[in-house]
Amino acid sequence: MRQAGRSLPEYRQVRGQTTMLQACLDPDLAAEITCQPVRRHGVDAAIFFSDIVVPLALAGVEVTIEPGVGPVFARPVRTVADVAALTHTGPPDDEALAPVAAGVREAVARLAGTPLIGFAGAPFTLAAYLAQGRASRDHLAARRLMHTDPAAWAALMEYTAAVSAAFLVAQIRAGAVAVQLFDSWVGSLREADYRAHVLPASAKVLAAAKAEGVPTIHFGTGTGELLAALHDAGADVVGVDHRVGLDVAVQRLGGTTPVQGNIDPALLAAPWPVLEAHVRDVVDRGRAAPGHVVNLGHGVPPDTDPDVLTRLVRLVHSL
Ligand code: CP3
Repeated sequence: MRQAGRSLPEYRQVRGQTTMLQACLDPDLAAEITCQPVRRHGVDAAIFFSDIVVPLALAGVEVTIEPGVGPVFARPVRTVADVAALTHTGPPDDEALAPVAAGVREAVARLAGTPLIGFAGAPFTLAAYLAQGRASRDHLAARRLMHTDPAAWAALMEYTAAVSAAFLVAQIRAGAVAVQLFDSWVGSLREADYRAHVLPASAKVLAAAKAEGVPTIHFGTGTGELLAALHDAGADVVGVDHRVGLDVAVQRLGGTTPVQGNIDPALLAAPWPVLEAHVRDVVDRGRAAPGHVVNLGHGVPPDTDPDVLTRLVRLVHSL
């Protein structure tokens, strides 16, 4: 359950006035926040507390994470010159990534056997933020660049793929036993553009993680039309958002791919019987897959009642 921490009073308490990026780069604090949802809800795995823009910040890119907004970049990347200015320093090296590795090692120690999932933003989703400079609804700046300046786009994807791979490999070497590659905004693409201009970069990242010997999960929102293509990028498990039933997703994936998903975050606010019926339906549909990692179809809304999440975890375990 990504960004699950936001709904927890103990998260807000330890974060205090610390900025999001400062918290991500403080190994002790990052480890503590990573463990909080496990302690409270009894979930089967932890996801490392960090953010997809952390490796960009560590590479020297000027970025902040604004509450209620998300990542905001000082200089949007729109031209071949912008790309060159961005990429000349290259992806973050081991020294730059040291606070991330330390946070992972500390989290793994405190989790005492509960597995830790590492993660990164996928090349397209990082490029979407870089091109727009901030969150956007249809990722027009990135989709324009892809077609108006294919050489600049290719250079940008090569850079974001290297950044994403470096972030994953650092987490794996520090003890993450699986990784999830978030291509959150890739659902804005048609399949042909995805396959021609994005898939090769995502495939490089997934291959780098696989070479470290861990299973990979790949996810994006609004990807009902792209599920098979996401799997073709090389992931072991495909994450599915709330829009497509898992039984349908399994069929689109050919019946042999494990899936992750896809409780609708909106239903966390519904009366318990409504949420319970939905969770049972998700688990039932997931039985069509050779494996099913139950989670939400997207992030936990910050105003979610944490007790509802604990009850939901108990229900899933009982099933
Ligand atoms: O639960 C966890 O803490 C897991 C760690 C995690 C965070 N971000 C922490 C975070 C993970 C896995 C992410 C991934 C992430 N970040 C994605 C991919 C997953 C997805 O949601 O599609 C994306 C697109 C981002 C970019 C980003 N960072 C967004 C959209 C936001 C939310 C902005 C807001 O406040 O609405 C962030 C900030 C962020 N990342 C928070 C957390 C806990 C909230 C920070 C806070 O205000 O406390």
